[in-house]
Amino acid sequence: MQGTFFQLIMNTSKLRECGEKMNEMKLSNRLETVAAYIPEKSILADIGSDHAYLPCYAYLKGLIVKAVAGEITDGPLKSAKEQVEKAGLKTYIDVRKGDGLEVISPNEVTCITIAGMGGSLITSILEGGKDKLEGVKRLVLQPNIGAKKIREWLIENNWELIAENILDEDGKIYEVLVAERGSAMRPYTNLRTELLVGPFLLQEKNEVFLKKWSHERKHFERILSQLEQAEKTDENLQKKAELIKNIEVVKEFL
Ligand SMILES: C[S@@+](CC[C@H](N)C(=O)[O-])C[C@H]1O[C@@H](n2cnc3c(N)ncnc32)[C@H](O)[C@@H]1O
Repeated sequence: MQGTFFQLIMNTSKLRECGEKMNEMKLSNRLETVAAYIPEKSILADIGSDHAYLPCYAYLKGLIVKAVAGEITDGPLKSAKEQVEKAGLKTYIDVRKGDGLEVISPNEVTCITIAGMGGSLITSILEGGKDKLEGVKRLVLQPNIGAKKIREWLIENNWELIAENILDEDGKIYEVLVAERGSAMRPYTNLRTELLVGPFLLQEKNEVFLKKWSHERKHFERILSQLEQAEKTDENLQKKAELIKNIEVVKEFL
């Protein structure tokens, strides 16, 4: 009984302390959206963690029990270590230097977040560390560009896309892709369109989504008209065909 009482006092003061630290730490909407998809009680690996804001926030919010913050570059690695120390979370967040998933062991974590990079880099990190995905139940991926590459990788590797989000912050549009092991083709009904724009995002077609694709459509058309003036190399012809296909896809819903 007494133990429970002291535990309660300790938990309350810990919670208050955490609340104060969380107030100090204002996360971007982008990273807050990523955090919203981390299942409770996860053991997290945040790859390319930079300042380690995401694992610190996730711990203080009570979403995770512990985390690995992976970084390949010395500067961000130092910031991550300083941030974790400042937040008093060294016991729970282990900052490790390394390339992609090499910082974790198989069955060490249950959720992986990779945010703020291009889709090609995110897929190359996943591809390069496939053996480390054992025991991982959820991937939360936030590509700045090239989400299509991630959707393709998820299908090829039997991960089912279970949710998507799109947000606009400071004039930039970001997508968040959430996947779990399951039936990789389940969310798709029209692969050509949905690989490019996202099955869940297409279904919702919200304001940010429509803004992104009307902007992209103009971009595709501009590049296409430049390519029409350019030399007809194989590479240019291939790029042209891809752009024509993308413009057709976007016209289906805009
Ligand atoms: C633009 S920052 C994004 C930081 C943070 N994830 C966010 O979303 O705000 C990308 C970070 O990923 C790191 N990075 C790039 N390639 C990496 C790799 N292969 N393994 C680990 N970290 C990597 C970079 O050093 C950089 O700090």
